Amino acid sequence: IVAAFQPKVMAGKRILITAGPTFEAIDPVRGITNLSSGKMGYAVARAAREAGADVTLISGPTALPTPHGVARIDVQSAQQMMDAVNRHIDGQHVFIAVAAVADWRVVNPSTQKVKKTEGGAGGAKGPDLQFEQNPDILATIAARTTLAGYPYCVGFAAESENLLEYGSAKRERKGIPLLVGNIGHHTFGQDDNTIVLFDEHGHTILPQAPKLTLARQLISEISKRISKHSL
Ligand code: CTP
Ligand code: CA
Repeated sequence: IVAAFQPKVMAGKRILITAGPTFEAIDPVRGITNLSSGKMGYAVARAAREAGADVTLISGPTALPTPHGVARIDVQSAQQMMDAVNRHIDGQHVFIAVAAVADWRVVNPSTQKVKKTEGGAGGAKGPDLQFEQNPDILATIAARTTLAGYPYCVGFAAESENLLEYGSAKRERKGIPLLVGNIGHHTFGQDDNTIVLFDEHGHTILPQAPKLTLARQLISEISKRISKHSL
């Protein structure tokens, strides 16, 4: 009901969003993941839809319902998320990378369930896992931004310390116009959040609020910034 009275600032815009954790297989029944619940990314998808955008949500494993009117594509690994983003990026006005993408994957996953070795605790050694780095989805898409500034790329960063310094450095390293920093590392799984927006002018703090409120503020900030770009 609230949404019906909000201006449709994103009408006619196509927005691609990643959300949730990724899951990197060790064997057919085990893997490496992280504590991202997907709540922030799903709130951003909902807010973008409420604002009139055509929204595609590429989601790692979560326990959340699909926001109304949003096209959702489920993936597990970072590589699958990269492939899905590549398949859907053409024609998008905005790309918002909210997913907590695993930085590494297991190079040598087993095709069969790994069995314990005999000998019990103490002596027996665990499986010999090797890791390699996953593709950086956000940096890959940011590198493709056209001269007109599309897709307008937005990143998220959860830093455990020195957020103001690391956030601004990360925005520049990723080559993106806007980075959203989470203050503190208590956001995972929570309903509330506090965020900082970093852009070329500096930073702005959005005080603690429910994730949906912050998501609506973020969508409004993005809409102001893309209206300055020429299409
Ligand atoms: N990201 C991505 N693909 C990756 C890693 C990160 O798209 N393989 C995106 C995230 O969705 C987020 C942003 O990049 O929007 C920042 O993620 P973060 O983990 O904070 O940055 P990293 O570059 O991975 O640096 P580090 O984890 O070492 O701090
Ligand atoms: Ca990372």
